[in-house]
Amino acid sequence: MYYYPYVNRYIEFYNYSINNLEDFWAYQANIIPWFRRWDKVLEDNHPFYKWFVGGLLNASYVCLDQHLETYRKDKVAFYWENELGERETVSYYELYNRVNYFSKFLQDLGVKKGDVVLIYMPLVIDAIVAMLSVVRLGAIHNVVFSGFSKNAILGRIEDSKAKFIITATHTYRRGKKVDLLSVIKEINVDSIQNIVVLDRSGDFKEEGKYVKWPTYKEFVYVPPVPVESTHPLFVLYTSGTTGKPKGIVHSTGGYLVYVASTLRWAFNVDNDSIWWCTADIGWITGHSYVVYAPLALGITSFIYEGAPDYPDPSKWWSLIEKYKITEFYTSPTALRMFMKYDLKYVLDHDLSSLRMLGSVGEPINPEVWEWFYVNIGRSKCPIIDTWWQTETGGFMIAPFIGILPLKPGFASLPLPGVLVDVVDEQGNSLPPNTKGYIVVKSPWPGMMMGILNDDEKYKEVYWSKFEKMYYPGDYAIRTEDGYFQLLGRADEVIKIAGHRIGTFEVESAILENDFVAEAAVVGVPDEVRGEVVAAFVTLKQGVSVNEELKQKIIGKVREIIGPVVVFSSIFFVDKLPKTRSGKIMRRLLKAVVLGKELGDITTLEEEASVEEVKKAYEEVKRSIV
Ligand code: WT7
Repeated sequence: MYYYPYVNRYIEFYNYSINNLEDFWAYQANIIPWFRRWDKVLEDNHPFYKWFVGGLLNASYVCLDQHLETYRKDKVAFYWENELGERETVSYYELYNRVNYFSKFLQDLGVKKGDVVLIYMPLVIDAIVAMLSVVRLGAIHNVVFSGFSKNAILGRIEDSKAKFIITATHTYRRGKKVDLLSVIKEINVDSIQNIVVLDRSGDFKEEGKYVKWPTYKEFVYVPPVPVESTHPLFVLYTSGTTGKPKGIVHSTGGYLVYVASTLRWAFNVDNDSIWWCTADIGWITGHSYVVYAPLALGITSFIYEGAPDYPDPSKWWSLIEKYKITEFYTSPTALRMFMKYDLKYVLDHDLSSLRMLGSVGEPINPEVWEWFYVNIGRSKCPIIDTWWQTETGGFMIAPFIGILPLKPGFASLPLPGVLVDVVDEQGNSLPPNTKGYIVVKSPWPGMMMGILNDDEKYKEVYWSKFEKMYYPGDYAIRTEDGYFQLLGRADEVIKIAGHRIGTFEVESAILENDFVAEAAVVGVPDEVRGEVVAAFVTLKQGVSVNEELKQKIIGKVREIIGPVVVFSSIFFVDKLPKTRSGKIMRRLLKAVVLGKELGDITTLEEEASVEEVKKAYEEVKRSIV
């Protein structure tokens, strides 16, 4: 069945890992240094799993101190550049110095083990210094993407009980200064003890709780606080089907072992790598594959603060050429945007340093895959399509060291130690080439520890649909030769430019407009962003429809969630189609937007009869203003 000898070798290795799960991971755990070895590889208190129980370590030590005794001490950890062409380079030793210095500063402010520190910063080296300084003290970071708004920050502070905020005066986007501090200043929460501000403009004044990021003076040593393997490293909020974003909690030991192992397995990064993962630190991809995995492995990374196509669409390609990037990991959305531009922007650049390409966040369609392969990889670089989630911590399905035959559109085979399957509604394994739900059937070290403050929701969302199987919420099929193809979300999550947005969240934000009575949103396909939002809104009595209302709705959603939410259209309707139990018929709404024929939609809604669906469909169509 397989023509590549390496695949057979891989399958053997994979089977070994699954059949000897604990031994396998115990061996892998040596990829990072521990202060104390664990007593137990896995404690199974389903669905709560603890990895490397009894082990002690510190993530900042794993990322920095361990390298100081090696040649990597003076190796570059990060090259950084921004839109203005400003550049910075830090070695492991310099990063270590800066982290110690800033840790001391945080310690003096009172930051201690277990405290939650909210980080609202652009992609600069100091943002990484902030993350590592927090974890050096055994505190827990909560990074909030700098594109999120005030309300998103408020919600997170309320849930995580964050005591400190670290921010910066501003960032840049498409040549404009984007003020971050003014967003923070709108927040007035008593429980926040201090706000540390990185002054990039030179005119920040300390006042009250607001203190200035200290200028490095001399070396100070702050001993890394040894924490238990299961001590939370960070909490990161992500959208789901219900209500507010959930605080996903990741462990220290299992998480670090997992991200370091998987980065090496998928991308074969090496001592001479110049790794570029284009994600922001505000997302899990930034946590796992900009910060923790590359530093734990001691490799050199490049990071860029700015828009991909500013000042012109050759920006990224000129950076690959300039920094001689060897592995380049990005998203289908970014690639689709570049595909719209003239190919000369790409072809003018020497991209021969590239060895591996990678994709994440949404399914990569074969046309995009081809374009990436031919024009960026110049037909010589494997494309590593990595399927995973905020909750999984690291890659789950991805080609192992690029040795597999690759197929456009397929994330390929699961990584070692990861047991995945495609099942039907009852949880039975499906035969090849049948669409079903993807599930994970055994624990892995990178798995989340839970949802902050909400064990019940953790059980309900991920472990109640199927017995003893983790439910990620995606559709997939598997081919005869075991390759997985991911087919998008099976739940009410919309993926805009690869970012997860819950329908409920957007609807709640729309309802904040006092002229809105009811709202329902659906994800609709978009050429660049993958999906965008179409909204159906009913207005309160007496309110008459006008264009301005649409702008108000968009403005409100931006204010509450942030500019990550992009609308394709807003429809005003008389009433929303609902089933008898009151559930909004979203699939019907989607069919309306997509202009699908009735014949296609009669089977769409499970809870309603064909007649009801037909009637509702006609009503919605008729009443659109
Ligand atoms: C969801 C997780 C994983 C980091 C970035 C997104 C979708 C992710 C792929 C892929 C098809 C993918 C899934 C998943 N997704 N990677 N390679 N192929 N779909 O993290 O925000 O937690 O979103 O992204 O739907 O469930 P996230």
